[in-house]
Amino acid sequence: KFRIAIAGGGSTFTPGIVSMLLVNYDRLPISEIKLYDNYEERQSSIGKACKIMLRERHPEVEFSYTTDPEQAFSNVDFVMAHIRVGLYAMREQDEKIPLSHGVVGQETCGPGGIAYGMRSIAGVIEILDYMEEYSPDAWMLNYSNPAAIVAEATRRLRPHSNIINICDMPVSIENTFAGILGLESRKELVVRYFGLNHFGWWTSITDKSGKDLMPQLKEWVSEHGYESNTEDFQHRAPSWKETFRKVKDVYSVVPDMLPNTYLKYYLYPDYVVEHSDKDYTRANEVMNSREKEVFTTAEKIVASDTAEGYEFHSGAHASFIIDLASAIAYNTKERMLLIVPNNGAIINFPANAMVEIPCLVGSDGPEPLVMGEIPTFQKGMMEEQVAVEKLVVDAWVEGSYQKLWQAFTLSATVPSAGVAKEVLDDLIEANKDFWPVL
Ligand code: G6P
Repeated sequence: KFRIAIAGGGSTFTPGIVSMLLVNYDRLPISEIKLYDNYEERQSSIGKACKIMLRERHPEVEFSYTTDPEQAFSNVDFVMAHIRVGLYAMREQDEKIPLSHGVVGQETCGPGGIAYGMRSIAGVIEILDYMEEYSPDAWMLNYSNPAAIVAEATRRLRPHSNIINICDMPVSIENTFAGILGLESRKELVVRYFGLNHFGWWTSITDKSGKDLMPQLKEWVSEHGYESNTEDFQHRAPSWKETFRKVKDVYSVVPDMLPNTYLKYYLYPDYVVEHSDKDYTRANEVMNSREKEVFTTAEKIVASDTAEGYEFHSGAHASFIIDLASAIAYNTKERMLLIVPNNGAIINFPANAMVEIPCLVGSDGPEPLVMGEIPTFQKGMMEEQVAVEKLVVDAWVEGSYQKLWQAFTLSATVPSAGVAKEVLDDLIEANKDFWPVL
């Protein structure tokens, strides 16, 4: 049986992950779940509710929550990490400051993503170091954002750590593909994909018998983008619905492949800015919905001392992370899209770039599959974006204003070095409690 720590115990995603662990108990039997956070108050609300849920659904699983790293990370097999340094208040800044200069305001793309990256690096490294000290053989399954910058930082700064960086967006889009095709599950699909995190394309999608499903998907996408009649689409927030619809245009730029939704921010930044409300961004949407709902549900569970009748939404993250943990635990060699060092998998791309590609996952971790040569357009976009990510890590390590300015300037979301500097200066001010001094 496995022992699991969840870093980011006060996150609104945590109850969903815990309930998913319980639902999948037969697939991944667990003896213990520990929550860890450095924000005691948030974690104790979530922790108290999870404790009741566990007591009712799997009383044999030991459960605790703590702000003490030694207690949290000792004797564990997996650390599932989804930390958000600076919480939603800082996400709001990441989105609103660039927008106030007419630049894309997004939590993982462009200046906002870079700002978030500059905050996240220390937080993720800190947890890796706790693991090294208290459970050196444990695996960190990391989906803390911005995943691309975090992955580059951990590759560079902790090259020997057992960390796997993952993202739910490909999974979520593959669920959409399954819905469009009328299939039960994304697991019926066999895909080829290449790119960076939040920056990639599907080149082939077949079913298990090898039947090509791309023509049907392309026909749909060229008309509807990723809008579909699925329940998943209907339940999405307005801003996400817009992103899924905009895929129609994103797709038209490279119509022989199917894009990740996030390419919208790099290919249509002017459109994104025009259609953003600079006073009410996604951070506000989330603070007024998911944040409130999850904490209210947690309070109700605690007040009534039962979790019966309450369900926490578990999202694509949760199921994917259990697939990943069981692939490592049981050496299943399941094929999954992960963020790994390229090392020749994309032949005409640098070996030391962190890329998102299919891998076979077993007890030794991910074994990347060769995706071959990629076309000039996508290669050019990816090279520019990889340079941004590498410059951010340089800037963080060296405390270099110049490199961070270069990173902002190079982002396809930013129109000029002048605008880059204005946005950067405001973000430095907003992040003075989090970033290294530049
Ligand atoms: C997708 C992305 C994640 C991101 C999330 C934000 O799932 O893959 O990287 O964290 O969207 O969703 P939110 O609901 O917070 O805007």
